[in-house]
Amino acid sequence: MQSAIVVGMEAAFDARIGAMRDELRGYLSLSRANADVVLSPSGTDSQLQALFLARALLGPAMTTVVVAADQTGSGTVHTARGCHFSASTANGGLVRKGEPIAGLSGCVESIALRLFDETGQGRPHGAIDSLVLGAVERSVASGSNVLLQIMDSSKFGWRAPSETCLEEIAARWPRQVQVVVDACQMRLGRARLRTYLDRGYWVIITGSKFFTGPPFSGALLMPSIFAPDIDQASDIPSGFFEYFCRSDWPQDWSSLRSHFPVRMNLGQWLRWEAALEEIGSYFRVPPKFRLATLSAFREGVERIIGSSPSLFLLPPQHQVEGAGAGDEEMAQRTIFPFMVRRGNRILSLEDCRTLYRRLARDAACDDRETEPKPCLIGQPVVLGRADHHPAAALRISASARLVSEAFSSSEDLAQRNLQRALDDVATVVANIERLLVHMDGLEPAGVCHGA
Ligand SMILES: Cc1ncc(COP(=O)(O)O)c(C=O)c1O
Repeated sequence: MQSAIVVGMEAAFDARIGAMRDELRGYLSLSRANADVVLSPSGTDSQLQALFLARALLGPAMTTVVVAADQTGSGTVHTARGCHFSASTANGGLVRKGEPIAGLSGCVESIALRLFDETGQGRPHGAIDSLVLGAVERSVASGSNVLLQIMDSSKFGWRAPSETCLEEIAARWPRQVQVVVDACQMRLGRARLRTYLDRGYWVIITGSKFFTGPPFSGALLMPSIFAPDIDQASDIPSGFFEYFCRSDWPQDWSSLRSHFPVRMNLGQWLRWEAALEEIGSYFRVPPKFRLATLSAFREGVERIIGSSPSLFLLPPQHQVEGAGAGDEEMAQRTIFPFMVRRGNRILSLEDCRTLYRRLARDAACDDRETEPKPCLIGQPVVLGRADHHPAAALRISASARLVSEAFSSSEDLAQRNLQRALDDVATVVANIERLLVHMDGLEPAGVCHGA
């Protein structure tokens, strides 16, 4: 407010957003020389920015190849084609989900590549690599450039395609393919993030998943070498003005910024402030403690889920070459997807949704002696094609706040803090077991809407 009095509200707002970019870079061990930061209302909105910028740089004929399309945000199927992904935009515009965004969607094709096949079996690395190479080859042969969205990492903590595959793409199509990394989960080490940027990849991150900031805070990180060309872009999709404001774009991109309206998205600003607070708290914890906590949590969760007769932990992704390098403590598994069995049946997506909502509301429906305890876990993810009625998995995840809240210079206290988090996991599992007994009497997912 002080600076608003001195320089005016809009200038103060813009200056603060600029300072936040520096803070974010600082926490991620990046500098202005290696990354520009484009802020956005969510990871999904950042995908739209990436599509626009890829077309501005490579040309309008564009195919987006989305790796792990079954384990990214649900809006990607629309953003990958330049379409609206919701009924309203960040600036409050009312739009039709799935319809083209004015000025963005012409000449955009999209190929979705899934990590799981129709029947719910995980595809081996080699098969995913072949799908990716085939999709890029076909797109380029048809005269299109490619925005290749790779995954690091998915809703299950998986990464694809392999390094060898990416090297082959760089060697065969150096000028036709732009890689953008879906790192929205932020479950990768800072050294790996930096490596991606050094290679010329773009990286989409959020403050809202591993880092536990409020939902809806996205950013596109771009190697600074692109700045001069991007700043020349003048053909801004008119539909973008419903999504983005001037202050979302880096201050050095003065020409590009001048096309956007000056509008203060206060919600987006405040959500990023909260996310930066979480990111900062996490990185202020000593690296040794971060690693020890995430690894003790992993052991504890694997043990708790392993001792349940109804829950089956999905195996971690089979390790690929170079896995773990540059990942610091993130080489640990931090997402624990599990299937639920009832009788001799694995629960479907619909059943998992019912369980998920019921857990979030309270799980003690049949037990009046214990306090109801709402349990927030990861939303169900379908394994295979939804129209083939496959099983689904629920997820328990470690987060940055788990680490920053557990931290104490007293070893004893830190141990007790971690134990509390593991007790919560045990409560989740116990509540699922209890709900399973009454599953037939539970309202279907749709009825619990808004719980
Ligand atoms: C791997 C991955 N990418 C992208 C997204 C979309 O991010 P947002 O919810 O910020 O739009 C998600 C959302 O869950 C995700 O898990």
